[in-house]
Amino acid sequence: MTGTDLPHLVTAVPGPASRAWVDRLALRECPAITSRRARRAAQIGAADTDPIVWAEALGANVKDADGNIFVDLTAGFGVAAVGHRNPRVIAAVTAQMGSLVHAMGDAFPDPRRIELMEALAARTGLDRVILGTSGSDAIDAAVKTAVVATSRHRILAFDGGYHGLAFGPLASLGYLRHTMRQPFDKLLGTHVEWARYGGKLPDLADIAAVLVEPVQGRGGMREPPAGWLAGLHAAAKSAGALVIHDEIYSGCGRTGRFLASELAPDLLCLGKALGGGFPVSACLGTSAAMDAWGASTGAAIHTQTFLGHPVGCAAALAALAELDALAPAVAANGPMLSEALRAVPGVREVTGRGLMLGVHVPNALQATHDLLDRGYLVLPCGERAEALGLTPPYGLTSEQAGGLLAALREVLQWQI
Ligand SMILES: Cc1ncc(COP(=O)(O)O)c(C=O)c1O
Repeated sequence: MTGTDLPHLVTAVPGPASRAWVDRLALRECPAITSRRARRAAQIGAADTDPIVWAEALGANVKDADGNIFVDLTAGFGVAAVGHRNPRVIAAVTAQMGSLVHAMGDAFPDPRRIELMEALAARTGLDRVILGTSGSDAIDAAVKTAVVATSRHRILAFDGGYHGLAFGPLASLGYLRHTMRQPFDKLLGTHVEWARYGGKLPDLADIAAVLVEPVQGRGGMREPPAGWLAGLHAAAKSAGALVIHDEIYSGCGRTGRFLASELAPDLLCLGKALGGGFPVSACLGTSAAMDAWGASTGAAIHTQTFLGHPVGCAAALAALAELDALAPAVAANGPMLSEALRAVPGVREVTGRGLMLGVHVPNALQATHDLLDRGYLVLPCGERAEALGLTPPYGLTSEQAGGLLAALREVLQWQI
């Protein structure tokens, strides 16, 4: 497997080894994680939608437990932007593991953490950073900072928004994601209100922060109308509310620039691709917002055990250098791929920007399944899973993109 391979299938999908692993998984994992397969099978009427079990990945290729090679158009939820097992990331991680694997969160820092914060500040123009390990962590840090900085307690979020499933971000999930919120509704408070993404804004008096994805990811790879985000910034500024950009999906070069939005937020969340495959996230902020916390006087009031993990920070530093090198390819290849997808019969619309594309087709769940059968990994996205979400590694070759287009043509001819 080279990372630039086309699919090569040697068994049915999923094959016997994947099936055997999934049988063991189903016995041990909380059923809330695995039950989705049954729901999806019921939705599309497919006999078998068990997942493949990943054994190896390199570049834009994934090899499953049966030795089947796939092209990964998801980059593993957008994480492997620099490619799976990127050699520079692996070299940096290996070198770091030779000296220091774990330091001590807020108590004793290490050089990689400091270098990473400097590198992030240089790229974003935001002076201060709280590191974390998941996207949810970064959102928690941003919401807390907004509350501390404004002494207000209300958040404005948007329909179709997705910010993670820890309690902080879960509270901001739009009403359409009812199943994720509903069991916990009573614990999520009443501090969040919602508006339509791209629509009319409510009065922002008393709002601490507006939490917005400049390009929505799970909500369907969709952009708001031109000028809407700038209007939101202006409204927030005049009401004294902070603006939090959630660029966990859209950031790190995915739209062809380091950040999807050129506007300057008060707080910015990054994650996913930032760690080059390692769990690293960051909440960046202006000094004005972050300094409202005041200086730590002993036990930090916001921290975690793995904050600024040295190996994760080393991985992120290497990933950032790779992202800088690859972003121009995203800017060039994204529009070409989107244009070619639009020309496939059955494709109703292609949304998104760069290599963050939503391909609207008659039955996205069925198409996801049928593409997997042909060796192409995609995920459905959108509130009703109405589109195929394409967020491939930035090094996806034109042959791999061409293979996807041919497979999609084949798959959709049954749907139109
Ligand atoms: C825009 C956005 N924000 C936040 C998150 C949550 O990140 P995590 O799953 O790492 O907590 C996601 C995850 O998909 C996301 O797409």
